[in-house]
Amino acid sequence: PGVKKIIITIDGYSSCGKSTLARQLAAQLNYLYIDSGAMYRAITLYFIQHRVEWNDHVQVKTALDSIHLEFVHNQISGYSDMFLNDENVEQLIREMLVAEKVSEVAAIRAVREFAVAQQQKMGAQKGIVMDGRDIGTVVFPHAELKIFMTADPAIRVERRFKELYAKNPNITLHEVKENLELRDYIDANREVSPLRRAEDAIILDNSQLNMQEQLDLVMQWVEDAIMAH
Ligand code: DC
Repeated sequence: PGVKKIIITIDGYSSCGKSTLARQLAAQLNYLYIDSGAMYRAITLYFIQHRVEWNDHVQVKTALDSIHLEFVHNQISGYSDMFLNDENVEQLIREMLVAEKVSEVAAIRAVREFAVAQQQKMGAQKGIVMDGRDIGTVVFPHAELKIFMTADPAIRVERRFKELYAKNPNITLHEVKENLELRDYIDANREVSPLRRAEDAIILDNSQLNMQEQLDLVMQWVEDAIMAH
């Protein structure tokens, strides 16, 4: 009580460790953590499951009208699970099938408007950490602390590979590398709110930092941001 709550945005390329950092910050600060990428993944899953032709504006519009997204706290993991129309899709949205299509779907204007409007509502009370690609630029342009994460591409591929391999030993390093490169390219080059650093975002390159060093560094930025506002 009495301590000012702020909005913290974390943007950056795929597999830089955005969600790990965001979760740690939310836990330390007792803030809400929102994984905006999960929303784009859930929309993509719906489009795949319902064979939505996403080049067709009308089909996209109709599909979005029947999508209800919700984050539900999971008692066991301590994190939030993504629910799509009242079904827990947390596992499904992390699969390669979704990863291969999500950048295409996330580039559609109507899809972004749909997701951004909901994200902005979630941040209305502040006390939130949100990670994604356009959080500091589009969703919360007035956020008190903006972080732009980067890491060596080889390190990112290795991290994502380890994560996916644990669930599916058939996955190859090559496959992961191709998907990561393609997603980064599409995310950074799309017409609607491409991935870019907000001018007032602090760059965090974590290639050479361990988790504790990173958290200590960012907590200092958080304190500074709270003091300054
Ligand atoms: O963070 P992630 O890898 O789960 O995100 C999945 C995809 O969603 C990513 O390739 C780009 C897109 N995305 C986006 O366009 N804007 C966001 N704010 C978050 C994710």
